[in-house]
Parts: sequence; C-alpha cells; structure tokens
Amino acid sequence: MPSLRACSSSLDGTAWPGYASWTPPHGVLETPALLPVINPRTITVPLHELYDEFGFKAVITNSYIIRNNEELREKALSSGLHELLDYKGVIMTDSGTFQSYMYGEVDVRNEDIVAFQRDIGSDIGTVLDIFTEPDWSKERTSEAVDVTLARTEEAAKLKGDMLLAGVVQGSVFPDLRERCARSLASIDADVHPIGGVVPLMEQYRFADLVDVIVASKKGLTPARPVHLFGAGHPMVFALAALLGCDMFDSASYAKFARDGRFMFPEGTASLSDMKGIECHCPACYGHSHEDITAMKPTERTALIARHNLWVSQQELGRVKRAIQEGDLWELVERRCRGHPMLLDALRRLGDHEEFLERTEPLSRDNSLFYTGPETLQRPAVRRYARRFFERYEYPNTEVMIVFDESSKPYSRYRQQEMREVLEQCDSHFFVESVLGPVPIELDEMYPIAQSVLPTRRDKEAVEGLKEMMERMSHEHPYAIAVGWDGRQTLETLSMMCEEAPKFDLDLARVKAVADMQFGRGAGAALLAGRVELKKSENTGKIRNVLVDGEHILSMRANDGFFTLKTAGAERLRKAFPAPRLRVRVKEDSVPFNREGKNVFCTFVEDCDPDIRPMDEVLVVDASDELVAVGRAQLTRDEMFAFKTGIAVKVRDGVKK
Ligand code: GUN
Ligand code: ZN
Repeated sequence: MPSLRACSSSLDGTAWPGYASWTPPHGVLETPALLPVINPRTITVPLHELYDEFGFKAVITNSYIIRNNEELREKALSSGLHELLDYKGVIMTDSGTFQSYMYGEVDVRNEDIVAFQRDIGSDIGTVLDIFTEPDWSKERTSEAVDVTLARTEEAAKLKGDMLLAGVVQGSVFPDLRERCARSLASIDADVHPIGGVVPLMEQYRFADLVDVIVASKKGLTPARPVHLFGAGHPMVFALAALLGCDMFDSASYAKFARDGRFMFPEGTASLSDMKGIECHCPACYGHSHEDITAMKPTERTALIARHNLWVSQQELGRVKRAIQEGDLWELVERRCRGHPMLLDALRRLGDHEEFLERTEPLSRDNSLFYTGPETLQRPAVRRYARRFFERYEYPNTEVMIVFDESSKPYSRYRQQEMREVLEQCDSHFFVESVLGPVPIELDEMYPIAQSVLPTRRDKEAVEGLKEMMERMSHEHPYAIAVGWDGRQTLETLSMMCEEAPKFDLDLARVKAVADMQFGRGAGAALLAGRVELKKSENTGKIRNVLVDGEHILSMRANDGFFTLKTAGAERLRKAFPAPRLRVRVKEDSVPFNREGKNVFCTFVEDCDPDIRPMDEVLVVDASDELVAVGRAQLTRDEMFAFKTGIAVKVRDGVKK
C-alpha cells in the first residue's frame, strides 16, 4: 500500500516534494488532486477530454446511481466501471450517502454497496457512511459516528483489491470528529474523506470548516491521504491544502454552470451580473460576454462547465507550486481575502496555531510576507516570540537600547549607532519588530531577516508589540533601558553609565541562535571552552564555530541557523537528557547511519516530540550513543506512521 504524507500541512519545497503521489490500480495520483464528479446518466464533459485535455487523472462517480439503473448496473458488472465510463484514469466511487442526505433513506445496505463497488472494479470505493448534519444534536451525531465506524469495519473486510475510503463524520463537534478519525486510523482503510461538510460549504461557514478539518486531522494517521468531500470551489483549495487535505471533488463545476455561474479563485460571478469576460482559459478564449449570453443553454452550460474545470485545475496547479516553493501560507492569506467568510476562516487558523506549529518547518527558503494582522498568527511568527520568551537569555550588560524597526539586517544598518554607544557604555541592543522584540544578535535568524513588513503598522501589530515589550520589561535584567533617540540618548547615557563595554556581538549571536534553535542552555554547553569563529571573507558573516580546536557548528547564510557537526552534537547529547533533540534508531539501522546513510522511517524507534521538520537532530542508538547527525525531514508522528521515506537526512556518521 502506498504511503502518502498529508500534502501540505508541513512543507518545504527543498526538503521533500511537499505534495505527493499514491498509486491506486489505474495510475499514479499526484496530490493535491481534484476529482470531477461524473453523473453516469448526464455527462457534461466527455471523460476522455477530462483526462487528455484537462489532465484530470481521476474522477469520482456514484455507484448507487449505477446500481439503481438496470442498464448501467449490468454493463458495469459485465464490462467493468472503466469500460462503462470509457475512462482510463483512477475512478473513485461514492456509496449513496449523499443521496440519503438529499432525499432521505436509501434502499441499500452497506455490505451490498461496498461489494458492488468492488465488483465493478472501482479503484477507490466508499463506505455507506451516515451524513452528519450541522443542526443535529450531539447524541444523534455520536450515534451516527458509531454506525459509520461499524460500517467501515465491515467494509474493510469486503474491500478485496479495492482501496477503501473511510469517511470521517461528527459534524461540527470537534471531539466527535477526532474520536471518529482516531478510530478510523486503526481500521484497514486507505484514504479518509472528511464528510458532512457540504452544508458548511454552501452556507460559506468556512471558519467552521477549519475547525472540522483540524479536528479530523488530529485523529487521522498522517500516512493516509485525506479527501474533502464535496469541496469543489477553487476559493477553498489553498486553505484546505494548508490544513492537510490532499483530494477534492467537484460537482459544483457543472451545477454552477447550469446556473450561469463562473467560478474563480476569488469567488463566483454570474454571467447576468458580469459586464465582460476577461478570462483567457481555453473555454472562454475568443468568446465575448455577448457571445456567451446569446448561446443556446446547453452550449452555454458546457462552456461554463469547462471554464469552471479549467479554473479549478489552474488553481490546484497554483497550490501545488506554492507547496513546492514553500509559500502556501502567503497564497492562503491572499485567497482568504476573496470573501469575508474566508477571512473569518483565516482568523480561525490562529486558534489552531499549536496544532499547525507541529508541522511548520524550522525555516523556509522564501521570505515571509506580511499581508495583514493575520500574518502575526502564523506558526513561524508565533514560534519566534514563544521561543524568545522561553529560551532567550539576556546578556549581562548594564544598558539596553531599543531601536525602531529599520532596514535589515539590523546589526549592519545600526552599526554606526552601536559603535558610538559601545564607545562609552556597556550596552546591549534590541529592535522593536512587530514579530516580537529582536535582540540585535538574532537579526539574521529566520524569520527576522527573511520577513518583509510594511512600514506603516496596523493597530493589531502595535497592540501585540506593546504587550510583548511590556512582558519583556518585567523580565529583562538591565539597570538602564532606553529607546534610541540619537545624540540625545548618547548624552543621557554618558551621564548614567558606570560599567565598561563588554558586549560581543559575534559571541552573543552564536549563543543566542543556539539557545533559540536547540533550547535554553544549548549555547552555554556548546561554547564551553576556547571559542574561535571563522568568518566569510566576502560577507563578514560567521561561518564556522570551533571550540577547543574542534569544529562544532556551521552557520547557514540563508536562515541564520546552525548545522551541527558531530562534536557539537556530542556536547548537546551530554547537556540534554534523552529524548531531547534525538531520533533513536533500531539496532539494525545503526551501522548504516554510522556510514552516513539516511535514517528511514521504519527504523525509527523513538523521537523527541518537539522535533520539527528541518531541525538538526542527533541520531542515537539504544544506549544513547551518538551514531550520526542530520536534518529531520518529518515530525515524530510522521516518522512513526510512514512505512517508507526518509526520516532524517544524515550529514555525518560517527564511525566506531
Ligand atoms: N459527498 C459529499 N459529502 C459526503 C459525505 O459526507 N459522505 C459521502 N459518502 N459522500 C459525500
Ligand atoms: Zn474561462
């Protein structure tokens, strides 16, 4: 069975593709993927066109409709589903659940519809789950979850070679969603649709959708793909992918087309309201608004359906690129400004920051763009402030000077002022950034140097910063704290200061980055001894850190964090008890890792739960001996869940 990481909740284009593929019987499915819904009785766009022209390598159709129509049923049973639909890609089938939601009870049993899907050669068949509706009581919803789970267990026994979609239900009750998902994870299913969300989509309750997806994801295993059932509007793809949804299906492209509605990533527009067509998709190209309005209804519907498919496919491509390039957050923040209810959803992400932070890589290759106050809720930003307050140790100087935000890196831009201050007093320096208070020596570390902020601050940013500065004022040890005001400050300081300057920016940088990266106390442990810093001749930046003649750390130019050498790793191992900073491997992996070979998921025995993708880690054996040093590619949960794939990219093995 292929394993697949949730496409997008933790991504970094450099470390892994970020999106993935899995292999149902009829081909490899690259995710994120949109499966157009095919009504076997009324086909709006021919399936070979979907495959060849649009590039849809998977579709979803309804086995209940096929089974209820004698002609379709007989043909499907005798020739198979792929022949019936004349489609060579992956075909997923639904079970009749949606019909029961729309029209009341359906006259089919779970075991029969599952066996039928298997017998007609569906690639991915779906359980007859119970569609839990948003206005149901908790008791009723809970009972429906129990029935859904029992039916999924039954289906798992019947699935044969077919992949099974086990649907997460539980409506808007996060605890029921999580319970359902956790139970499903232990059943032999292959993909997990999140069901019961159509009413939320229809009512634009996107913030509730966020809660539902997060609660479901918390219970599911990261090893199986997640499908968002009935989410076919391009305006939600980026958001849903960010939350770890890999697959979507769309009946909307055809439904909207019948109502003359054009889908765009920014929202929906009705032909009758539009004053022109500025779309250059292959369907619209060459057609004016008047042309389309004058068309026969069937022709017009077909054109708009194709437009909707093109736009959806293009948006998925855009999401995929953002995943690979590592800026999906920026895309989501932009897309969520397409509708006020999406903005609510974006703001709701802030409530789930702790969950989202677990898969947020240590750093990303591209700059963090501030698109509005919501950016301050992002895991990368909140992590900075959290680590600052938990891990940072203030240097022991007499004075603290606080600079306003300026060009970056701050230490270069403020070089002259710092020199003048240090000529007369023992000072340390901070910059008031909306991302949090920044000690001058952290100015090259992600996301400080790698963020682009507007010069004019919004009220939320000012408020948030005020709170953080106030918190800092209660914690810092400096006898004198002043905001920088040019000459004035220098004159004041010359009257007040008593101690001789001792602040060393380079040493402070090494210590502070080590503490922020590995935990409080790491800097002291790493730097105990005679410290030598090797700098780049071109940039003047710190490159290598040697202690007592041993190379222990290298500083990366791109994100300002360290790569760990084995001598440094050994110091950390002694300073921090297991399982901190460690990935413990099984005995049979040890000789390979000592040779410098990567750690594969199946060989991971334990792992520090605080390890984040792209963290430097210590690979150790059962007796906590250092075996290798490398970079974690995954979270602990992912390392345990995945049957294949690299858990740690090893850089240096420790030979015996
Ligand atoms: N299609 C849209 N929503 C659902 C759902 O909750 N369950 C199933 N099986 N199909 C759906
Ligand atoms: Zn178009």
